[in-house]
Amino acid sequence: MNGSFQGLIPKEPKILARSRGQKQSLSQVFPLQASATSWAVPIIVSVSAHFSDLSPRLRPQPDFHLSASENSTAAVLALVAPDMAEVDRVIAQRLDSGVPLVGEVAKYIISAGGKRLRPVLLLLTCGALGYTGAQRHNLAAVVEFIHTATLLHDDVVDESTLRRGRPTANESFGNPASVLVGDFLYSRAFQMMVDADSMRVMQTLADATNVIAEGEVLQLMNMHDASLDEEGYLRVIRSKTAKLFEASARLGAILAGSPAAIETACADFGQALGTAFQVIDDVLDYDGNAAEMGKNLGDDLREGKATLPLILAMQKGTSEQSQTVREAIETGSVDRLSEIVAIVRETGALEATRNAAATEAQRAIDAALQLPDNAHRQAMVVLASQLLNRRT
Ligand code: IPE
Ligand code: IPE
Ligand code: MG
Ligand code: MG
Repeated sequence: MNGSFQGLIPKEPKILARSRGQKQSLSQVFPLQASATSWAVPIIVSVSAHFSDLSPRLRPQPDFHLSASENSTAAVLALVAPDMAEVDRVIAQRLDSGVPLVGEVAKYIISAGGKRLRPVLLLLTCGALGYTGAQRHNLAAVVEFIHTATLLHDDVVDESTLRRGRPTANESFGNPASVLVGDFLYSRAFQMMVDADSMRVMQTLADATNVIAEGEVLQLMNMHDASLDEEGYLRVIRSKTAKLFEASARLGAILAGSPAAIETACADFGQALGTAFQVIDDVLDYDGNAAEMGKNLGDDLREGKATLPLILAMQKGTSEQSQTVREAIETGSVDRLSEIVAIVRETGALEATRNAAATEAQRAIDAALQLPDNAHRQAMVVLASQLLNRRT
């Protein structure tokens, strides 16, 4: 078992029964009046040898297609490596512009890498559902362009200076160039998605980009608001982050012409994975390593973002600790960052936040298990399991 999660297992583990196909309400997924244990996730009582490096708190399915040695994010990436090479080719080809600054800024951020998680997600769902057409590479590039556009804009809004291990585009080229090249990438993505010649594809991506923009504006409205609760937080992250994961997974099902129930399972998988991903991102802002993440710690506090670690720290802490966190959110001051980090640790808020991510990861796994049983589906399960361990 992965030792890093052992300490998080509640004393009285409870296996939650989940009925397939039944949509959970927000309060079921993210209990609003969360106590320490209500964030807890189903516990695997016995874990087979095949799952030895999965988080002990996640429940995998019994027959796994990837061997134990392949049971890692690296194995997932290997499965889609040839496709990803083609996606990179499409990305490079579609960055062309007659305006030199466009290419310069876009290449600056795209060549810095990034995990390319959204294209991977789209390719995995295509693979699981048996779609092998060329549109998967085109649309995988589209979701990466949309993601990159949101990052260019997000770094301006968040006044971030480090991204993917190098100075942000706003730091290197200025805010105007970042915003405008972000617009270029958005609109290029829309040009490319027309190639798919599918109203459902366009509808999915148009809705996703609209919801992402709403999420970022909602977050702006919530800045320095220490009274934001879990529901308000969840609404922001479902919109700004999970929506594109959801769209990426849904697109695989649309391309494959899958039945509605499978498309919904893919969308649920993407939404849950994206939510867990952002919750962990918010943990790493206090508990990560800048060199590994390629971005600065403490950016969220500097922006006065009431993310889940802080929301839970205020609930769990002494009145003095809560007051310290509240003031930091209201002022956006990072002068007492190390004290805040100590508070989110000592109150168990970080642990509870990781448990919230695990609940969502489990929901992702449950959704993935509704897809046909094959190596790509298994990779989706591995991805959701490994996400909790991510440090980058
Ligand atoms: C960063 O996303 C923005 C969030 C949703 C937290 P990623 O962590 O996927 O960024 P890259 O593409 O790997 O750099
Ligand atoms: C994610 O939020 C941003 C988008 C989804 C656009 P964050 O502000 O937490 O992302 P990072 O930490 O800057 O990557
Ligand atoms: Mg940011
Ligand atoms: Mg962040």
